[in-house]
Amino acid sequence: MNTKIIGTGYDLPAFTADNDYLATLVDTSDEWIVERTGIRVRHLAKEETTTSMAVQAARRALEHAGVSAEDIGLLIVATITGDTETPSTACRVQAEIGAHKAVAFDINAACSGFLYGVHVADAFIRSGIYRNALVIGAETLSKIIDWTDRSTCVLFGDGAGAAVLCAAEEPGILSQSIGSNGDKWEVLACQGRPNENPLCEKGGKPGYLTMDGQEVFKFAVKTVPVCVEEALEDAGVTADDVKYFLLHQANKRIIQAVAKRLGQPEEKFPMNLDQCGNTSAASLPILLAQMDEQGLLQKGDKLILSGFGAGLTWGACLLEW
Ligand code: COA
Repeated sequence: MNTKIIGTGYDLPAFTADNDYLATLVDTSDEWIVERTGIRVRHLAKEETTTSMAVQAARRALEHAGVSAEDIGLLIVATITGDTETPSTACRVQAEIGAHKAVAFDINAACSGFLYGVHVADAFIRSGIYRNALVIGAETLSKIIDWTDRSTCVLFGDGAGAAVLCAAEEPGILSQSIGSNGDKWEVLACQGRPNENPLCEKGGKPGYLTMDGQEVFKFAVKTVPVCVEEALEDAGVTADDVKYFLLHQANKRIIQAVAKRLGQPEEKFPMNLDQCGNTSAASLPILLAQMDEQGLLQKGDKLILSGFGAGLTWGACLLEW
């Protein structure tokens, strides 16, 4: 039995902030941001929440797949910015869309979260435990950004993407390579959370994201080609056989460096980061859904999805569309 993606959907906040807008908040410029990252615009949530965008993306993916919410056995939301610490965003999405028979839970693997979700869903589907799974990546990173720190606030955006995965006879997910390295957790972290314990001192870490940008950059450029090559080798597929490499939309220069290391033309690396920024766990499913919407994906195409993020975490998934 194989696992196949049969429907995708995405949702983005209505409000967009271009680089000039950010230059009114911090000492930066459109020129610097475009040159160092490739990002021009990002969507930021005003009315929208992580849950509301996850719900919209899920509804679109289900409609596209022709699958009823009642038929979903497994509902996973990858997020680091749930609206509630508990319950999980997945349980709230379950209630909104009426996926009453699903087991619902969140995954925290930052920007690799969607790939982790696909990894888990694939294992459950292959083992015959569930037939249909809904995997969503949804974030309102704007809630945990330090809007006075120009080195991070220009990078991120909000949004959600979703995919319906189902058991199939025909080829779907061909191989995956996934990993974590907790030794490097401090490179990219959001440490703040309330502590109401009367035995503890008040105070603690800031509630926003902190990052060593250059360390993350080096880690991404080194790790992504390795896990992509592992996934290809595992399936006996060459990089030349792959139509598109969908990489986590963090930075144009990272994507270009990975393309170079893999010896593949940049045209095979679609990007939406200029319009969305880095939407963490939502980045890959939004890109996939947009390409699907634009009719760029044909049956039989081989695709690589690959990402990296806080943890540190990473992953690559080779699939046949
Ligand atoms: N506008 C203007 N100047 C900025 C700036 C901004 N938004 N952000 C940082 N700078 C400045 C720095 O203060 C520094 O100034 P200094 O030399 O006077 O100290 C200078 O630009 C260079 O900073 P540096 O950090 O060396 O830049 P960089 O080329 O490494 O680019 C990143 C910074 C963050 C764009 C880059 O490191 C990066 O993309 N890293 C990966 C981050 C990532 O993808 N994170 C998410 C992972 S899921």
